Amino acid sequence: MNNGEISAILLAAGKGVRFKSNIPKVMHNVIDKPMIFYPVRALVKSGIKEIVVVLGFGAEIVREYLESSFKDIGFRFVYQKIQRGTGDAVRIALPKISNQKFILLYGDMPLIDESVIRDLIRAYRHSELVVTTFISENPFGYGRVVRDADDNLLKTVEEKDATDAEKKIREVNAGLYLCKTNIVKKYIGLLKNDNAQKEYYFPDIFKFAIEDDIRVKIFESGSEYLLGSNNRYELSVLNSVLQNRINKRLMLSGVGLIKPDTTFIGVDIEVGADTIIHPNVFITGDSKIGSNVKIENGVIIVDSRIEDGVHIKPYCHIEKTIIKRGAILGPFARIRPDTVIDEEAHIGNFVELKKTYIGKRSKANHLSYLGDAEIGSGVNIGAGTITCNYDGINKYKTVLEDGVFVGSDTQFVAPVKIGRNAYIGAGSTITEDVPSESLSLSRTPQKNISGWVKKKRRK
Ligand code: UD1
Ligand code: CA
Repeated sequence: MNNGEISAILLAAGKGVRFKSNIPKVMHNVIDKPMIFYPVRALVKSGIKEIVVVLGFGAEIVREYLESSFKDIGFRFVYQKIQRGTGDAVRIALPKISNQKFILLYGDMPLIDESVIRDLIRAYRHSELVVTTFISENPFGYGRVVRDADDNLLKTVEEKDATDAEKKIREVNAGLYLCKTNIVKKYIGLLKNDNAQKEYYFPDIFKFAIEDDIRVKIFESGSEYLLGSNNRYELSVLNSVLQNRINKRLMLSGVGLIKPDTTFIGVDIEVGADTIIHPNVFITGDSKIGSNVKIENGVIIVDSRIEDGVHIKPYCHIEKTIIKRGAILGPFARIRPDTVIDEEAHIGNFVELKKTYIGKRSKANHLSYLGDAEIGSGVNIGAGTITCNYDGINKYKTVLEDGVFVGSDTQFVAPVKIGRNAYIGAGSTITEDVPSESLSLSRTPQKNISGWVKKKRRK
């Protein structure tokens, strides 16, 4: 039996009342992905093909997210209108299971990864019912695992139903199980909701199985992969655990993090060796960072590719951009989507770029806005240069060919094209194309009126 012959049921119908939110619990982010991303990815990576998801509160939001983020997975969705408990949710999902075995897991355990699921299957693939447990320093809120004198499972008991003695048990139910389908089918209808929460508890089926002499196996695993999240505080704890895991992986692969507890780096972001990341840096989305990159304090990078040897000085905001080898940015540069900054270009302080290509070794070092522009190589853009790319209705393009020199405080009223090596005099408003190798200037000539100040004072 390979793992493809095991199905999965993922429970995600709950509102997450303790989150006090209108967003379904499993859609709250852990690092930069919704909670439910993690169990799904773990299932997919462990080779499971058939995933039945139980939806309820905010079903459409969750469904849309899963379908758009995991395009190759043919999820089977079932709906639990009223959340009557985990046992009720499983009962609704069971008819969709076509394999003899299934993994059951809860949608609110984002620290899970494929190694845990693989280990569970490897060790217990021939067992009939397996419950995963871990030891918790602070077991409050979890179902406790009650063992008999031989250390076998006797039952699980929820926090709200537990006696004082049971509350002292530190071994808890993780919410990850391996089950034989026909055994669960046999007992699921017997569940009762005669408990403190008036819910049908899935793990109560163990009592029925044990009465029929079926041994329920216990798979003991580590809390660092199994902690659940029932409120925003617990979520913040999981965030730290996961960020630490991401940071550690990066540091062990040669990335320098100056103050890792302040660094936010998203899931699955690659960073090359000898890259140094200063405090308070935020890297998220579909981003990739090369090696020997220096990213200084307060930089935000979203959905961008940063190549080797780039230097990003403090407080730059970079979105959907490609920055090529050896370019230097900032401090305080704002790079908006669909921009490419080519090799060894310099973009300095208070420069905003949007949908712009900056050629090799070109420089825009101070206070400029370049939008919808195509700038060749070796171009020098003076301080305060602005592309007037928008007439209130349409956007137009500014083209600066290789070697152009732009004096300070120039406006380019697009569409406009400046030929190779042309010079633009400072303070010009350029409304027409400039031929290559020529000088263009459009400012009014200066006049000095001598004695003007004295005359004014006399008045
Ligand atoms: C559950 C377990 C508890 C365990 C803990 C681990 C039960 C009865 N209790 O408690 O033993 O220690 O998880 O984190 O199983 N859900 C539905 N439909 C429902 C109820 C819940 O889909 O009717 C989903 C929720 O969306 C959630 C998951 O099942 O993703 C777990 O539900 P939750 O209410 O968080 O259970 P816990 O009280 O944490
Ligand atoms: Ca929970």
